[in-house]
Amino acid sequence: MGNHIHPTTFKISKSERIKLLNQNPKLIWFTGLSGSGKSTLANAVEAQLYESGFATYLLDGDNVRTGLNKDLGFSDSDRIENIRRIAEVAKLMLHAGLIVISAFISPFRKEREMIAGLVGEENFLEVFVDCPLEVCEQRDVKGLYQKARAGIIPNFTGIDSPYEAPLNPIVHVHSDKETLEESVQKVLAMILGKIEAGEKPNPPRV
Ligand code: ADX
Repeated sequence: MGNHIHPTTFKISKSERIKLLNQNPKLIWFTGLSGSGKSTLANAVEAQLYESGFATYLLDGDNVRTGLNKDLGFSDSDRIENIRRIAEVAKLMLHAGLIVISAFISPFRKEREMIAGLVGEENFLEVFVDCPLEVCEQRDVKGLYQKARAGIIPNFTGIDSPYEAPLNPIVHVHSDKETLEESVQKVLAMILGKIEAGEKPNPPRV
């Protein structure tokens, strides 16, 4: 069946969209345990980028899982499919010229490598939101660790499902030791130079 599919060539290319938006589309990929602070940090980074005039979009675990991926659970194969779909969505958004920010546990190294391959190594900016399991478990913002320990939620990341930490993230945040503002600044310091296109003078970017 795949043989009968002929993708259209678009009149407006990615480089035209880059010119229009005056930014380099990149995927800022936050990964870390549940409760490590991915969503909070991703949100704060997006807010700063918005203030600075960037066109962004945030993809977040709990939101995507109530919509696009609501048919998926937390078995290894469902997590792989979860990330595969998100990677394809992110790729479309990159073609639209956006700075895409994502916050998913994305526990498997191989899947994160797959994303980099799909969107291009140079477009994949991996941010490791590092927080010891004990701290995430103590915070237990959503009460899920307690349920996982009680055996009510199976395959919980860090408890009975693995988390494979990034080996070479572009930013390594320690959310148990840094303030949110410190972590935001750390991320911005590493990514701003990569997302600024600077082809025409724009309204001032902070
Ligand atoms: S991922 O592993 O497939 O990348 P994703 O980021 O989409 O996970 O979703 C994680 C969120 O789902 C957690 O923050 C938590 O609220 C919820 N959740 C429900 N069941 C589990 C589970 N078994 N393991 C981890 N998170 C779970």
